[in-house]
Amino acid sequence: MSSRSKFSSKIGFVMAAAGSAVGLGNIWRFPYLAAKYGGGLFLLIYLIFVLTLGFTIMTAELAIGRKTQLSPVGAYRALNKKYSFIGVIASLVAFLILPYYSVIGGWVIKYFVTFISGGGLATAANDYFGGYIAQPLEPIFWQCIFVLATTFVVIKGVKNGIEKASVILMPILIALSLFVAVYSIFQPGAMAGVRYFLYPDFSNFSFQAVLAAMGQMFYSLSLAMGIMVTYGSYLSKKEDLEASVKQIELFDAGIAILAGFMIIPAVFAFSGGDPAALNKGPGLMFVTLPKVFESMNFGNFMGGVFFLLVLFAALTSSISLMEAVVSTVCDQFKWNRKKGVLIVAVIAILLGIPSSLGQGVWSSITIFGFNFLDFFDFITNSVLMPVGAFFTCIFVGHILETKIITDEVKLSSPFKREKLFILMIKYIAPVCIVAILISSILEAMG
Ligand code: PHE
Repeated sequence: MSSRSKFSSKIGFVMAAAGSAVGLGNIWRFPYLAAKYGGGLFLLIYLIFVLTLGFTIMTAELAIGRKTQLSPVGAYRALNKKYSFIGVIASLVAFLILPYYSVIGGWVIKYFVTFISGGGLATAANDYFGGYIAQPLEPIFWQCIFVLATTFVVIKGVKNGIEKASVILMPILIALSLFVAVYSIFQPGAMAGVRYFLYPDFSNFSFQAVLAAMGQMFYSLSLAMGIMVTYGSYLSKKEDLEASVKQIELFDAGIAILAGFMIIPAVFAFSGGDPAALNKGPGLMFVTLPKVFESMNFGNFMGGVFFLLVLFAALTSSISLMEAVVSTVCDQFKWNRKKGVLIVAVIAILLGIPSSLGQGVWSSITIFGFNFLDFFDFITNSVLMPVGAFFTCIFVGHILETKIITDEVKLSSPFKREKLFILMIKYIAPVCIVAILISSILEAMG
């Protein structure tokens, strides 16, 4: 197995894994959840989860990958034949997310192109977004471009593709985020938003806020979808695994917080301090923000910069999704990378088309009441992901000797938070995950 591709450095690995973690979840989903569930309080609960539950599951997944040097299905199989189904679920999650993530990635490219070419004003109209995504052809065109961009990176392999792209895109992403956040904070009336975002108002505390923060943590750290197992398999045995986890978490939480600063103060300034303006779900990024940009000086430019950074965030995430699928099919079917990438890319485009058409011409077709895109989102994030994460905890905590995993972490350096890890993976994490699963299913049933 020594021929397995590797990241050439720890920083390359951390950038790639952080690139996976930082995505639409941080920039669009996190600020809107924070606004919905009491600002600073949500942020606080979120950070606690990242440092406990997130740390535990990410460490477990990276260690499984590095220990076995295999992609998810093979990795779980190598540890225990009966449990290869966990790898199958994880790879399936990545396989099902990639297509619809690309549809949204396509929308982001469209907005970027529109703003940067000076047409941002049009996107601020109330019915622009709904009208655009309902079109049959243009969104599919941009979706294909997004998949092609992802393909272009993944086909070049771990070191020359994924690592190189991440090392270039992630620092640019941070710089652009800082720039937009500072600009947003200095809008007149923005300070009320800053206060709202940072001040933990405990009277807002609710069980739903806790569950939402936990669900967000899973999604945002790209857990339980085979990605961290795959990337772990490319991590050299010499590198400090625990420290890498810390850096990835820092990156992810940092960009989520920056996104809060980019979006919440600007929307407050725009709406005259009304937090309800943030509570627009998917509309926040594509409907409310364009109006905010249009109200600013240099709106087209700022909007262009913002959608460019969103695009980079989405691209590094879709790269990780594609890689998780490609590494699985290549390992399982003994395909070479090129063949694996091309087949996965074509399937991703074809499977994404219903999610795109479901916004318009196929909107009358529903599965359990969801349109295609929402259905794929629900089945992956609300059902398969918690199920996979639950079995990962049971497997590592109770079936496998936990020592096999902790020894892998200790290969290069002492495992400082070992006690926390064991307590979490055996007892606390499984209970938390069952709570998420039940709540999201109940929510879906209305
Ligand atoms: N972690 C990504 C985010 O925060 C989401 C993601 C989901 C990435 C699935 C890859 C795969 O947006």
